[in-house]
Amino acid sequence: MAEFKEYTFADVATRNGRNGQPLWMVYKDSIYDLTKYMHEHPGGDDVLMDEAGKDATRAFDDVGHSSDAKHVMTKHKVGEIVEEEKRYDANGKKRKRVVAAPAEKPEGRSCFNVVTCGLLG
Ligand code: HEM
Repeated sequence: MAEFKEYTFADVATRNGRNGQPLWMVYKDSIYDLTKYMHEHPGGDDVLMDEAGKDATRAFDDVGHSSDAKHVMTKHKVGEIVEEEKRYDANGKKRKRVVAAPAEKPEGRSCFNVVTCGLLG
C-alpha cells in the first residue's frame, strides 16, 4: 500500500485554489489535489471551487458519482488526514464522535428525600 503524507483539516483549508494555492479537497479522510483536473471535471470547475479546502465527502456522494469517477479520483490522491482527525473508519463508515460525558450534577435533594421529608416533617 502506498504511503501518503498526512495533513490536518487546517492544512487542507489553506489549499483552497485561491491566491496561487492548489485546489485540494477531502473525501473520506483522503486528500486529493484537483488543481489540474478541475478544468476537465464534467461537473465544472465552479462546483469544485465551492468545495476547495474542505471535506467534500457529502457533496461528492450527493451527486451519485460513477465508479469511473471514483477511479479518476484515485489518480489525484496526495495525502491523508492525520489519525486524530479522521472521520471515517477503515470500512469507510462515519466514525461516532466521542463526546466527553457531562459532569455529574451536584447532589441535590432527590424525590425520595422530598417524600420522606414530607412524611417526617
Ligand atoms: C476527486 C473529486 C471528483 C472527481 C474525480 C469527479 C469526477 C466526476 C466525473 C467523472 C463526472 C461525470 C459523471 C460520473 O462519472 O459520475 C462528474 C460529474 C459531476 N460532478 Fe464530479 N468529481 C469530483 C468531485 C466533485 C465534487 C466535490 C462535486 C461537488 C458537488 C462534484 C459535482 C459534480 C456534478 C454536479 C456532476 C454532474 C455533471 C452533469 O451530469 O452534468 N464533483 N464528476
